[in-house]
Amino acid sequence: MISPPSPLDPAARVFVHADAVATSQALAAAFLAAAQDAAQRRTLLHVTLPGGETPRLLFATLASPDFREHLPWSVVHLHWGDERCVPPDDPASNFGTTRRWLLAGIPLPPDQVHRLRGEAPDPEREANRYARALRSLLPNGPTGMPRFDWIILGLGADGHTASLFPGDAEGRWSDAGRLCLAAQHPTTGQRRLSLNLPVINAAARVTFFATGAAKAATVASILGQTPDGRSLPAGRVQPTSGRLEWFLDAAAAAFLPPL
Ligand code: 6PG
Repeated sequence: MISPPSPLDPAARVFVHADAVATSQALAAAFLAAAQDAAQRRTLLHVTLPGGETPRLLFATLASPDFREHLPWSVVHLHWGDERCVPPDDPASNFGTTRRWLLAGIPLPPDQVHRLRGEAPDPEREANRYARALRSLLPNGPTGMPRFDWIILGLGADGHTASLFPGDAEGRWSDAGRLCLAAQHPTTGQRRLSLNLPVINAAARVTFFATGAAKAATVASILGQTPDGRSLPAGRVQPTSGRLEWFLDAAAAAFLPPL
């Protein structure tokens, strides 16, 4: 079901589908359309993938014949919004999850895969390396910040996105000089690497992809622009000039007013 701009946050377009499968299919169709558009315009699609478990269905859909065989992979460059500081073969690795559910099934040349190296012994140094790589790979947008064509984000029930967590030293989030940060999960202590807020907000298109009842209250708080919602990392994602979208299933959209 495609909705008009949300009456909650006019800057956001909200797309709600029945369940996680339908939502993943809809996002995969948007991914296919974006890649085909880039191919038609003879340009590249630099897209950042989310971590966590939600995107597995999206990855499996993109690797299915209906999508794999029609998607112009030659224009697609994959990046990650964040990574756990573990090796790629660790079950917690976001790259490892993508490799298992997507990369193993598609003809994407390795030089079009730009991963955060979770195995790096010094996360700060890896964050700086990744930032340099982004500056060399991406064109600058109107704010002078490297500009992704599309950043797809997950949403934590606590309002985190990528690995920007509530309660982090907020100044770090908005430090335009830091494209990428070393971070830490507030409860597990797991070390992370994450894109920072300014580079997320500089993207041409930002899409939150959230499913399940556990996210419903946070989705409503952010889209409802409550003071709490606006203070959360995910609530601070307000693209400077790009498009903001939410792809939700009915369970994650349960507390929204009729769209
Ligand atoms: C990560 C993520 C994180 C994730 C949300 C949602 O590395 O965990 O990038 O931001 O997208 O926590 O995770 P689920 O999809 O598992 O609910």
